[in-house]
Amino acid sequence: MKTLIYNTKEMDEAVWLEAAGRILAEGGLVAIPTETVYGLAANAMDETAAAKIYAAKGRPSDNPLIVHIADMAAMDGLVTELPETAVKLAEKFWPGPLTMILPKRPEVPYGTTGGLDTVAVRMPSHPVARKLIASSGICLAAPSANTSGRPSPTRAEHVYEDMNGKIDLILDDGPVGIGIESTIVDLSGEVPMILRPGYITKAMIEEVVGEVRVDPAILSENKDKNFRPKAPGMKYKHYAPKGELLIVSGDSKKVIEKITELASEKTAAGYRVGIIGTDETIGAYHIPENSRGEAAAVMSIGTRREEATISHNLYDILRRMDGAGVDYIYSESFAEGSRGQAVMNRLLKAAGHQRIDVG
Ligand code: TXA
Ligand code: MG
Repeated sequence: MKTLIYNTKEMDEAVWLEAAGRILAEGGLVAIPTETVYGLAANAMDETAAAKIYAAKGRPSDNPLIVHIADMAAMDGLVTELPETAVKLAEKFWPGPLTMILPKRPEVPYGTTGGLDTVAVRMPSHPVARKLIASSGICLAAPSANTSGRPSPTRAEHVYEDMNGKIDLILDDGPVGIGIESTIVDLSGEVPMILRPGYITKAMIEEVVGEVRVDPAILSENKDKNFRPKAPGMKYKHYAPKGELLIVSGDSKKVIEKITELASEKTAAGYRVGIIGTDETIGAYHIPENSRGEAAAVMSIGTRREEATISHNLYDILRRMDGAGVDYIYSESFAEGSRGQAVMNRLLKAAGHQRIDVG
C-alpha cells in the first residue's frame, strides 16, 4: 500500500479533511496529530477497521484502543452510564489529554475494546484531530501511531518510519506539543483510579472529584512483583530503544561522574554510547571516541528549568539514539513529582527499570 502524506499546515483544509474522512468511512487507516502524540485512527465502531490498526502496529489483540470524540453528545453512543465524576472531569479537562474508562454500550465492538466491557474515551484538543472527527462524524479508535514496542511518535517523521506502506494516509502537522500520552483514569469502579500517569496529574484530578487512587501496578516500587496493570497496555515493555538504557539518579555532579565513568568503560570496550543529559549538563560530558573513531552521542532532552521541554523531547531523543546506532544509553533522571511522574514512568519502562542511584 502507498502511504500518502498530507501537510495540514500547507494544504487547503477542505482537501485533507475530505480525503481523510473518505478513507476512514471506507474502513482505512489515517495517522493524525493529537496534542499528546500522533495517533493511528480508524472508525471505532467498525471492527474490521479496528483490526487493521492491530495488524499495522503488530499490537497484541488484548490491548484495547482509545476512542476519540469531538463533543459530549458522542458519549451517548459509547457508554451506558455517565457518572457525575465523568461529567465534572470532562468539563474541566476536555478537550485535552485525559482518557476516561467507562462501561461500554453493546454497539462498541469488542474488537475496539480488546474484549473488555469498558471503553476508553478521550476528547483531544488538537485542532486537526477535532476537525477531522467533527467533519467525518466518525468516532476514531486511535492508539499511538508507532510499531508496538517502539517509542510513541511525536512527529510525522516518526510515524512514517514505523508505518510507511502499512497505512493509507499521514496527516503531518509538525511536532506535537505535550509529547507523552494522555492520563488514563478508570471511572468504572467506586473510586476513580489512574491507570497511566500523564500531563493531567493526580492532584489536578483530585481537585475536581476528591479521592483518587493510582493503580499499584504502575508504581515503580511494585515493578518486580506480580502486580497486573489494569490497563492491558501498561504490562508490555514499551518504548524500548535499541540500545540498552540505564538511568542514573542522584546528586547532579555525582551523576555526571558516574555516567562519564560507565560510558568511558563501554567506549574503551569498543561500543558506541549515547548520553541523555540536559541543557544544563551536556557540556560537562567528555567521553573519548571508541576504537572505530566514533564519538559518544551526547544529547540534551531539554532544560530542567522547564519541565514541559523534557516530556516534549523524550520520545524523539529515544528514536534519535536508535538512529545513532548506540549500544548503550545512559540517562540522567528527572523530577518524579507531579508531571515528572509521567516522564519517569515512560523512561523507566524504556529502561526495563534498570536504574542506579549514586546518592
Ligand atoms: O494520548 C493518548 O492517549 C494517545 C493519543 C493518540 O490519543 N493514545 C494512546 O493510545 O496512547 P495507546 O493505545 O497507545 O494506549 C492506550 C492505553 C493502553 O495502555 C490500553 O491498555 C489502555 O489505554 N486502555 C484502553 N482501553 C482500556 C480499557 N477499557 N480498560 C483499561 N485500559 C484501557
Ligand atoms: Mg501506545
